[in-house]
Amino acid sequence: MKSIHAFATLAALVSGAFAANFTLVQEYSDTGFFDSWTFYGNYDNLTNGDVTYVNQTNATGLAYVDSSGHAIIKVDNTSFVPYNDKRNSVRITTNDYFEVGTVWVIDALHLPFGCSVWPSIWTKGNNWPSNGEIDIIEGVNLMTYNQMALHTEPGCLAANGTDETGQQGGGDCSVPAGCTVIENTPNNYGQAFADNGGGVWATQFDVTGIYIWFWGRANIPPSITTATDSIDISSWGSPSAAWPATSCNIPQFFGAQQLVIDITLCGDWAGVPSVYAATCGDASTGACYLDNVINNGTAQYANAYFELNYIRAFAINSTVVVNADGSPASSGAGTPSSTASTSGASTSGGADAAGGKNSGAAALARSPAVWVAVAAGAVGALGAMAL
Ligand SMILES: *[C@@H]1O[C@H](CO)[C@@H](O)[C@H](O)[C@H]1NC(C)=O
Ligand SMILES: *[C@@H]1O[C@H](CO)[C@@H](O)[C@H](O)[C@H]1NC(C)=O
Ligand SMILES: *[C@@H]1O[C@H](CO)[C@@H](O)[C@H](O)[C@H]1NC(C)=O
Ligand SMILES: *[C@@H]1O[C@H](CO)[C@@H](O)[C@H](O)[C@H]1NC(C)=O
Ligand SMILES: *[C@@H]1O[C@H](CO)[C@@H](O)[C@H](O)[C@H]1NC(C)=O
Ligand SMILES: *[C@@H]1O[C@H](CO)[C@@H](O)[C@H](O)[C@H]1NC(C)=O
Ligand SMILES: *[C@@H]1O[C@H](CO)[C@@H](O)[C@H](O)[C@H]1NC(C)=O
Ligand SMILES: *[C@@H]1O[C@H](CO)[C@@H](O)[C@H](O)[C@H]1NC(C)=O
Repeated sequence: MKSIHAFATLAALVSGAFAANFTLVQEYSDTGFFDSWTFYGNYDNLTNGDVTYVNQTNATGLAYVDSSGHAIIKVDNTSFVPYNDKRNSVRITTNDYFEVGTVWVIDALHLPFGCSVWPSIWTKGNNWPSNGEIDIIEGVNLMTYNQMALHTEPGCLAANGTDETGQQGGGDCSVPAGCTVIENTPNNYGQAFADNGGGVWATQFDVTGIYIWFWGRANIPPSITTATDSIDISSWGSPSAAWPATSCNIPQFFGAQQLVIDITLCGDWAGVPSVYAATCGDASTGACYLDNVINNGTAQYANAYFELNYIRAFAINSTVVVNADGSPASSGAGTPSSTASTSGASTSGGADAAGGKNSGAAALARSPAVWVAVAAGAVGALGAMAL
């Protein structure tokens, strides 16, 4: 698998490094949106959230395509959850893995938000953390901005003086918080994002670096709205977040990435008392779980859903799309999932095997605040009670 990655990387170096024109290799949209994903089918044993990620059989009302052809991925806001139980939610991962040389475009109309709500659209390698992680969309509770990040093994740093419009946080991508960048473009998260008609994120996973752009609905460039079989990224300008390869050897720290969409509740970031208190007020012990998750659930769960127009993957060519073992993926080569068979969808129970080491350590790495909590001896009160 290493050698396959190395080969693709070399190929990218030779002819893909300065490519501005990428070909559609996979599309998740419309009635076929969920065809090529695996449902987690287990309680959240990754970030200690108070949810059970349903399997596909039990995802009927939580992961579906609505009458407008939009994919809805949501927290269960209709079930009564007795004290000490978890609420149903969804975590899905693409069956396809995408090598260096990929551009993902995500068009969203609504992102989950509300007290206790912790959504993310992100990517990870088959072997976490050695194959890296890219957090494209992530936030907690009533935060009003999106926080992007890379997570890697030691040796990958965010560059100083980078050409990016976002606000850079820590520079070491191997620390628990990762190397973060906060979005500055208005209306990029929460209620404001929804009221503004949503927007588009584009992520370029390239040998020259990793770059994330965001545009609100009214400002989406024609190169995206008119993109069908290919996309030209040359006019996109400064990204919101940039991690150039000058201080992070991308092929060394990132293997082929699969996309992940999930929504958890409370857990290692949203549920940390100080984090919860920052936007949701009362941080008394257990408030995140007790005030939101149990009984009929907080009314705020009416906003705990993704509404996605599409996710598209463009690449230097279709050889960039591989299976978990690095072999070529048959669903690539510009075959939109909406026309592919449904055989890719896993209906079996159990967590996706590709979860690898994406364990509690992953949770820690994705949640800066937990270390504050650990230091303060504050973790555990809710964990012991609600899990
Ligand atoms: C894919 O791109 C690589 C790098 O540009 C190239 O070496 C390879 O021949 C291409 N494969 C196909 C099927 O076009
Ligand atoms: C991009 O690539 C596609 C497919 O190879 C081609 O049809 C199109 O003309 C190219 N566009 C540009 C601007 O080079
Ligand atoms: C899961 O789905 C099965 C089959 O449709 C159904 O019998 C069961 O009640 C569901 N369970 C939950 C917890 O939704
Ligand atoms: C960025 O600047 C900080 C502070 O001077 C320094 O510690 C760090 O090593 C620099 N990062 C890089 C990638 O040069
Ligand atoms: C939950 O909702 C049901 C139906 O609206 C209502 O009868 C019940 O009192 C609620 N239970 C709690 C604990 O809020
Ligand atoms: C559940 O959420 C949906 C939106 O996802 C909303 O339309 C509905 O009113 C909510 N139901 C309850 C009982 O809050
Ligand atoms: C899906 O989950 C439900 C509820 O936990 C369980 O009853 C059912 O056996 C699972 N189905 C599969 C195919 O694993
Ligand atoms: C989470 O649960 C699944 C299913 O039981 C298991 O395969 C996986 O190893 C667990 N992961 C962790 C980090 O405990």
